[in-house]
Amino acid sequence: MTKPSKRIAVIGAGLVGAGWAVVFARAGHKVKIFDASETLRRGLPAQLEASLQKLHQHGLITEAPEAVNARVTVVERMADAVSGADYVQESVFEQLDLKKSVSAEIAQYLAPHAVVGSSTSGFSGSSFMAALPNRSRFLVMHPVNPPHVIPVVEIVPTPWTAPEIAPQMREFMESIGQVPVVLNKEIDGFILNRLQGALLDEAWKLFEEGYASAADIDATISQGLGLRWSFMGPFETIDLNAPLGIDDYARRFGGMYQRLAALRHPVAPWPQEAIERATAECRATLPIEKLNERRAWRDDRLMALIAHKNQQG
Ligand SMILES: NC(=O)c1ccc[n+]([C@@H]2O[C@H](COP(=O)([O-])OP(=O)(O)OC[C@H]3O[C@@H](n4cnc5c(N)ncnc54)[C@H](O)[C@@H]3O)[C@@H](O)[C@H]2O)c1
Repeated sequence: MTKPSKRIAVIGAGLVGAGWAVVFARAGHKVKIFDASETLRRGLPAQLEASLQKLHQHGLITEAPEAVNARVTVVERMADAVSGADYVQESVFEQLDLKKSVSAEIAQYLAPHAVVGSSTSGFSGSSFMAALPNRSRFLVMHPVNPPHVIPVVEIVPTPWTAPEIAPQMREFMESIGQVPVVLNKEIDGFILNRLQGALLDEAWKLFEEGYASAADIDATISQGLGLRWSFMGPFETIDLNAPLGIDDYARRFGGMYQRLAALRHPVAPWPQEAIERATAECRATLPIEKLNERRAWRDDRLMALIAHKNQQG
């Protein structure tokens, strides 16, 4: 038996909110979407249709794009989206005061059984959900941009989120084809940005000190580590990289990584000189007016990769 469709509210329809609307609608749910910008609201149906067309071209949806889009309604007021919704995904600008006021407004109209997930990348849920009367229904649901292409979602409950909600959200995200990662407690940057931040910091340091060009550092990932990373993480990687598995790897190479960790630099801003040099190198191969073309190429390659992964099961 197919599960009944849920009523979803998407609040904030920029890059991330628009992607979320596609995620929920393609899974068969009814979506009401609200954004404060009238201009953006007017353009949304065509924008969503274009995203769905792309997914269809890559075989990532089989239903006709127009049929999926028909499940999305753009509404003029936040209350019209939130009232009666089973789940609310908030994706407004990353500003703490705005997150507080928008969450308070959502809380006013929220049905008692409903759950609210915030897309915030950088704030802990408890920094803006603490004062809400129904704070036990709120948590962070952090996607990667664009969520209709990249499936991982970090689920981060606050200390007040009702204990049954994170497992419910894990099940819900799985049911719509996303890949949930549940954090047991709050931490700054969650998991994804902590890992990304550590890598970026080391990349800047190597570049700053002149060990290699930005292009060669990039190639180390795109033609090296990153090839594996599209289907396995760091633990599985090392589990396969020593004859007797992860503990064997730890015995053989733990010392080398400890030595490298001890060489790590103190925290400092990325130096302006290095930023200027990296910018010159990037712009020499990709002029600024070609950035959008390259973004479209990236999204196309990503969709082809996801289609390949789906075929492999
Ligand atoms: N862009 C990313 O890579 C990315 C990735 C993961 C999570 N996020 C998070 O998602 C959220 C949204 O980011 P984005 O990149 O989509 O930003 P964005 O600037 O593209 O969109 C934000 C939207 O919020 C709308 N908005 C502002 N105030 C509002 C209000 N009171 N009511 C309704 N709508 C309102 C704006 O009109 C805008 O369209 C942020 O919290 C961000 O940290 C972003």
